[in-house]
Amino acid sequence: MPGVFQLSPDELLREASKAHGLGVPAVLVFGIPASKDTTASGAYARNGIVQQAVRLLKRELPELVVITDVCLCEYMSHGHCGIVQRDKAGARILNDPTLKLLARTAASHAEAGADIVAPSDMMDGRVRAIRQALDRSGFTSTPIMSYAAKFASAFYGPFREAAESAPGFGDRRSYQMNPANAVEALREVALDIQEGADIVMVKPALAYLDVLHRVKMEFGYPTAAYAVSAEYSMIKAASAKGWIDESAVTLESLLAMRRAGADILITYAAKEAAQWLKEGRA
Ligand code: PBG
Ligand code: ZN
Repeated sequence: MPGVFQLSPDELLREASKAHGLGVPAVLVFGIPASKDTTASGAYARNGIVQQAVRLLKRELPELVVITDVCLCEYMSHGHCGIVQRDKAGARILNDPTLKLLARTAASHAEAGADIVAPSDMMDGRVRAIRQALDRSGFTSTPIMSYAAKFASAFYGPFREAAESAPGFGDRRSYQMNPANAVEALREVALDIQEGADIVMVKPALAYLDVLHRVKMEFGYPTAAYAVSAEYSMIKAASAKGWIDESAVTLESLLAMRRAGADILITYAAKEAAQWLKEGRA
């Protein structure tokens, strides 16, 4: 993925500090563990890579909002977002047993100092399970930003390579949303709000602006749009060819997400966009 690198905690601190200096208010942290297994133990390890990174960021940059991605795929040897059961019929993702691990992961992030936790797994009932785990551990005011309408999208390709989280077999269509079905996505958002989500997200952004707009109109909730890896990579590739004006296309895309109803933009172009805005390009 162009312009995106795996960072050690000290490198992350330098990147985050640069971004914060440019006016980026928050970072969303993903982890890649040293080793993977079938219980995603690296996801909720007290001294896991995300837990270490969060402690460091909050110690050195207390003003920067630190959001953690809560999922298991980067930590699972098979690359799925939940526990896998193999049987004669093939393999299945076990929804309910996965909830415990997700809840444990979110609580360990909060314990490390995360300001917001963001579950991206798409298991049913995970927002409630995480809310309960946070409350029980004393983190009653740690908000949950839920990847609520997260579609089974081909636009995640570059991320999966960068984060070493591509599923080893099958796909994510049994837990992520059907790109053809907006009504199902709205139902999913309603459930997440009922379960206690504080911010709901639509992902990908540009190809799903209709869903983003409907979510904001229907629920009036704090709404985030995630401009995903292929959205970013396509702009980078076309710009490198000299076919498009990178800053203009990037800022126009982000503007479209705001226009559609996003209160929060999650983008790999945050640092660049902040710099361009400083220079008065939009
Ligand atoms: C993992 C996760 C993914 C993304 C964010 N969290 C990939 C996936 O669901 O396969 C995608 C991000 C991107 O493409 O920028 N659950
Ligand atoms: Zn995942």
